[in-house]
Amino acid sequence: MDQPVISAINHYLEQLHREFAGLTEGEVASYIPELSHADPAWFGIAIATVDGHVYQVGDTRQGFTIQSASKPFVYGLALEEHGLDYVLNRVGVEPSGEAFNSISLEPGTGRPLNPMINAGAIATASMVQGDSDPARLAKVLGMFERFTGHPMKVDETVYLSERATGHRNRALAHLMHGFGIVEGNPEASLDLYFRQCSVVVNCRDLALLGACLANNGINPVTGVRALSEKHVPRVLSVMGSCGMYDYSGEWLYRIGMPAKSGVGGGLLAVLPGQLAIAVFSPPLDPRGNSCRGIAVCERISDDLKLHLFHPLRSTTASTIRVAYRANEVRSRRTRSPAQEAMLSQQGARVQVYELQGELAFGATESLLEAVGQEGDEPDFLVFDMRHVVNVDHAAGWLLIEFARIAHGQGRTVLFVGCDNKYPFQRRARKQWNGIDEAGVFALNDIDRALEWCENRLLERNGLAVDEMGRVSLARSALCAGLDAVHGEELERIGRRVEYRPNETVFRIGDAGDALFIVLHGELEAHIHGPHQEVTRLSTFIPGNYFGELPLASGGARTANVRAVTHATCIEVSYAALSEGLKVGLLSRMATDLARKLAGQARVQKVLG
Ligand code: DON
Repeated sequence: MDQPVISAINHYLEQLHREFAGLTEGEVASYIPELSHADPAWFGIAIATVDGHVYQVGDTRQGFTIQSASKPFVYGLALEEHGLDYVLNRVGVEPSGEAFNSISLEPGTGRPLNPMINAGAIATASMVQGDSDPARLAKVLGMFERFTGHPMKVDETVYLSERATGHRNRALAHLMHGFGIVEGNPEASLDLYFRQCSVVVNCRDLALLGACLANNGINPVTGVRALSEKHVPRVLSVMGSCGMYDYSGEWLYRIGMPAKSGVGGGLLAVLPGQLAIAVFSPPLDPRGNSCRGIAVCERISDDLKLHLFHPLRSTTASTIRVAYRANEVRSRRTRSPAQEAMLSQQGARVQVYELQGELAFGATESLLEAVGQEGDEPDFLVFDMRHVVNVDHAAGWLLIEFARIAHGQGRTVLFVGCDNKYPFQRRARKQWNGIDEAGVFALNDIDRALEWCENRLLERNGLAVDEMGRVSLARSALCAGLDAVHGEELERIGRRVEYRPNETVFRIGDAGDALFIVLHGELEAHIHGPHQEVTRLSTFIPGNYFGELPLASGGARTANVRAVTHATCIEVSYAALSEGLKVGLLSRMATDLARKLAGQARVQKVLG
């Protein structure tokens, strides 16, 4: 999904690249001799989104060693393997305000202050479990592979160069071994640390590493889970407070995104839920952070206002797509005149909110506040969630508490269209034990949910839901306007047909050569939606007719019709109709159609 043809982001990145290529501050790291061969002109910028789009400019395919930018990810691995308490006991989460290689351990315990400085990272690497050294390395590389989506390898030359010169790190490892923080052979863990720092990435990989964190731990390109959701905020927190060493405070203040740098020239910044920015440029400032990396991230954060503490705010108005009551919009179930009258009068007891977009705490709180203020409180509240893309934890909690309390008051709350919202449903079931008995998620289709509420209203008001019984052909809607001669003709040419429940009457594409008049039972017309879901177009009850459209327009069937219950119809072949009867029927159909269209305009808009 790389590089769309028209892209504001690409255009913007190209501009940034041109501008910051001119920034020549900083020195390429030389304390690891092999790193000094890097070209100071190498410069790449990549942005990866939580939808898996990657935008890149410059030297984004140039390999370099990940160095300290590996630390948050191995920290995540240690959390996965040992859990929070074990890891926190051995490595703290306090910013040190000191250089990355400082020898700062907690007095008395020897606990490193955080996992982003070398001491903490060596302690973290020592926690990676495995039967052998190669097995531990394979685990680290496998972890990186989940983040980048491809096999990873170590740059042996850089690794050997660092191993030969990393005396300070060696001292730290042995010191922490003395305190019991680094268990087992400290040389083996030190070696693993040197190798993890020498893993080869490019700027695009680095952006994807960040995008997985932004995307709650799931690789947005491959769909593979790279890190458990519960550890993502922990990893991002230490990046936020400690990722830029003794520049961490000012970085958060200016740029406002969790970040991590490496002396190979990589810099990674993550905006949770949105994107990751990766910059590769080897010249470093005295703290070991890429100079162009800092400048570019600061500019992007400023230009696009990406600072984490710029609050996003959505309003109720943007959350409610439409609100209506069941006296205004009815289900597609056809009703008898008595039922119609009752529903016009009582339909206001059913309130529907069609919601949209992302539901977060603020918007959901004000939505529910508005629901509570409605005045004549509805007995049935239906939240149509089909157009909701995400329900965050707090919003889900609020909605379910609301439903639980409403249920306790004898009201019904339905969430419709949640079949694809597994996390919301899972959390809801944990929060409210009896949620399934309350039927809150029982219906996935707004038309059926409306019908269900209407049925309850009818029953509550003493009207049977299926009270139509049987009608004679003479009393059917189609015959009502015909003169006696044509009425008799219809009786004569009509053929009585019985259908079993679920039996198909006709399918889309079948030849349209007969119309049907329902004498008994219920049938329905439906089509299949883009995901093969069944969308009901209408129901037919005794007295209704269907299959008449090709009589006027010719051509094949445009919907499927099946019997819902046992049903009896009169089938009238078009070919058998006299010219006079045909004209009579067409005129009657035109009148019905005009009435139906007027009444259905709003239903169509809402039920889709
Ligand atoms: O331990 C070291 O010195 C290197 N392997 C990593 C240091 C590093 O990347 C510091 N970050 N900016």
